[in-house]
Amino acid sequence: MRLDKYLAKSTGLSRKEVKRLLHADEVRVNGERERDPSRHVTEADQVTLDERPMEHPQPRYLMMNKPEGVVCAADDPTHPTVLALVELPRAEELHIAGRLDIDATGLVLLTDDGKWSHRATSPRHKTDKVYTVTTADPIPEDAVIAFKKGIMLNGEHFPTKPADLKLLGTCEARVVVHEGRYHQVKRMFAALGNRVLSLHRESIGSIELDEDLFPGEYRPLTDAEIASI
Ligand code: URA
Repeated sequence: MRLDKYLAKSTGLSRKEVKRLLHADEVRVNGERERDPSRHVTEADQVTLDERPMEHPQPRYLMMNKPEGVVCAADDPTHPTVLALVELPRAEELHIAGRLDIDATGLVLLTDDGKWSHRATSPRHKTDKVYTVTTADPIPEDAVIAFKKGIMLNGEHFPTKPADLKLLGTCEARVVVHEGRYHQVKRMFAALGNRVLSLHRESIGSIELDEDLFPGEYRPLTDAEIASI
């Protein structure tokens, strides 16, 4: 990692402030004064700032209860973004591990650990995602079998992998999918001639949305939640 990024991450200071400290000869790498912001440092290097040893920066992991009307994108010209709701230093360095549509609500994971988010989202790791949906029309009993068998989505060449559908009411169900295709749940219902009116994500793998989080609130993941992915 670049030295300026390392220092910004481990101190919470801006890159501009870090640059000033480098120019003021306040930074040493393995005892040697260092002014080059692009110097590559690893966990094996000892970085000190004003003679204080710096902790190696740790990746960050958050869960958010995404509200309706907020987009899962780094920026958007017309809508508020999930990242704009995160009031932490360098929130722009976080990315979303598994997007939700603008009108969907519930669990969203945010991190700056690319390998971790790959594990959370890659189809190879088959991480279960659990959604509750309400639909425009009643959901027939045989939809359960159709979800289990796999559904050919419009414009795709392979049916969906077996998914679990549990009816909770006439127009309400819980869906568990093991892959993450574009608009998957809405398109599965659309293929059966129905329309999803609301979609809420309850969990990703064994990470469940914390019921104490109001829409728009977030919290760090626990060590067990991080290790579960
Ligand atoms: N399926 C959808 O249709 N939308 C989402 O946001 C997530 C899963």
